[in-house]
Amino acid sequence: MNRKIRWGYMGAGRIAGWFATGMSVLEDAELYAIASRTLEKGENFAKEYGFTKAYGSYDEMLKDSKVDIVYVATPVAEHYSCVKKCFEAGKHVLCEKVLTVNAAQAMELIEMAREKNLFFMEAAWTKCQPVFLKIKEWVESGLIGEVKGIDACFYTLAGEGHRLYKHELAGGALLDLGFYPVMYACAMMGHEPKRILSHTIMGEKRVDYLDSIVLEYEDGRFAHLSCGLGPERRVSAYILGTKGRISINDEFFFQATKVTAYDFDNRVLAEFDGPFLKNGYEFEAIEAMECLRAGLKESPKVPLMDTLAVLKILDTCRENAGFRYDFEV
Ligand SMILES: NC(=O)c1ccc[n+]([C@@H]2O[C@H](COP(=O)([O-])OP(=O)(O)OC[C@H]3O[C@@H](n4cnc5c(N)ncnc54)[C@H](OP(=O)(O)O)[C@@H]3O)[C@@H](O)[C@H]2O)c1
Repeated sequence: MNRKIRWGYMGAGRIAGWFATGMSVLEDAELYAIASRTLEKGENFAKEYGFTKAYGSYDEMLKDSKVDIVYVATPVAEHYSCVKKCFEAGKHVLCEKVLTVNAAQAMELIEMAREKNLFFMEAAWTKCQPVFLKIKEWVESGLIGEVKGIDACFYTLAGEGHRLYKHELAGGALLDLGFYPVMYACAMMGHEPKRILSHTIMGEKRVDYLDSIVLEYEDGRFAHLSCGLGPERRVSAYILGTKGRISINDEFFFQATKVTAYDFDNRVLAEFDGPFLKNGYEFEAIEAMECLRAGLKESPKVPLMDTLAVLKILDTCRENAGFRYDFEV
C-alpha cells in the first residue's frame, strides 16, 4: 500500500483525541473518519482534529470501504462488541487497552481475526515507545544481570462520575491501571509466573479501588505491583537485577523518554534519551501501519498471546477477589 493509511476512529472520547494528536505528525496516516454515537459530537471532533468525515453511528462508518483500519476507543466493556462488528465488516483493528474484560472474550476475538485474516492489535502504546524498547533490550542483554524483581505501581485520581467508577463500563483500578504494571512486569520477567497472589479492596461503586499483586517466578524472582483509584497520582517502576537497577520515575508507561541504568555503586551503566515525535501515542500508530504495509496480521511488538497472558493474570486477580462484572457470562 503506497498511499496514506486511512484511519477510522470508533468513539470520540478523551483517548481518541490524544491518539489523533499523536497521529497528526505522521505523514503516511490519514485521519479519515470519526464515528460517534452522536453526529454532532462526531462533527465537532472531526473539526477539532482534522478528520475528513464524521459519522453519527459506528455501523455507518464500518460500511465505508475507504476505512483501512479501525481504532476502537470505547470503554473496556464495549471493546468486545465493537471489535466484533469491525471484524464482521472486514476491518483491521487497533483496540484500546485492556483488549477485553476477560481472557475468554479476547480469545474469541483473536480466533475471529485469524479466521478472517485481519490485523488485530491491542493499543498497548507503551510497548511501542523508545524507552520501553530500550529497557527491554538492556534487560535481555543482561546489562543489569539477571532480573530478580520489579516494583511498579499506577494510582490515579478521577472524579466520582468518571468511567473508572462505573461497574457497567468495566470500571475499577485493575483493568484500567493495573494493566500497566502487570504488562510491564510480564514483558521484563515473563508472561507465565509460577504463582499469582493478590488482594483487592472493593469500593462502594462495586468496582475495585485498590489492588496489590505479587507475581512469583522461578528461583524466587518476583514482581510486586499495585494500582488504585487515588488518593493521588503515583506512577513508578523499578527493575532490580543482580548487577544493577533501572528506575523509571518519570511515569514509566506514560511520559518516560529518558532512562538510566546504574550499578550498585551508583555508576551509570547506560543512558538513553528517546524523545517523542509528538505525545507518545504516535509510536503505536507507526507500529500498526508498518504491520499493515508488511501484510502482518499481528504486531511483533505487541503479540496477541502476550495480551492474552496479561488478561489471564488480571482474570486470576479478580477471581481471587470473587469480583465479576454483572454483564460477564
Ligand atoms: N492508552 C492510554 O493512555 C489510555 C488513556 C485513557 C484511556 N484509555 C483507554 O481508552 C478507552 C476509552 O477511554 P477514554 O478515557 O477515552 O473514555 P471516554 O473519554 O469516556 O471516551 C470513551 C468514548 O467511548 C464511546 N462510548 C461507546 N459506548 C459507550 C458507553 N456505553 N458509555 C460511554 N461511552 C461510550 C463514547 O464516544 P461517542 O459518544 O463519541 O460514541 C465515549 O466518548 C478505555 O479502554 C481506556 O482504558 C487508554
